[in-house]
Amino acid sequence: MRTLNFRAKIRVCNDKELNQTEKNLIDVAKEATERAYAPYSGIKVGAAVLLANNEIISGNNQENAAYPSGLCAERTALFYANARFPDVAVDTIAVAACVKGDFTNEPITPCGGCRQVILEAQIRYNHPIQIILYGKKKIYFVEKITDLLPLCFSSTI
Ligand code: THU
Repeated sequence: MRTLNFRAKIRVCNDKELNQTEKNLIDVAKEATERAYAPYSGIKVGAAVLLANNEIISGNNQENAAYPSGLCAERTALFYANARFPDVAVDTIAVAACVKGDFTNEPITPCGGCRQVILEAQIRYNHPIQIILYGKKKIYFVEKITDLLPLCFSSTI
């Protein structure tokens, strides 16, 4: 028997260690939380997607009384970005979450379904997608989705 070990690189930083583009993307994600529809969980999530043509598309979670029918902020933003600019690579996605009017202390981390969708966009455009996960206490900076999704499923196997 042998063991497979996976290495993931996640930089833990504060906002002073980010550049202006990255800080701005976080601000857009934070702002997008204000328009989330989250009456069931109370967790308002915002995502901002920076495209290779410098467009920024934001989205937020949209819940539904039939719970599985809702959609996370990351997928709302990414699908809309891909719907508007199908030929443009996704460069970076920033995510923030707000509970009872306050941003979370810890960074919010994308669910498995969103990680899979981010992976698809990374493969589709053959371009690494940076992921910035905002928390008041710390920010996670991830250089590519495979750091969050080891042994991922892809149709190219
Ligand atoms: N949610 C997101 O929008 N993104 C995440 O990364 C995790 C979870 C949403 C889904 C649901 O509306 C609420 O947060 C609680 O799970």
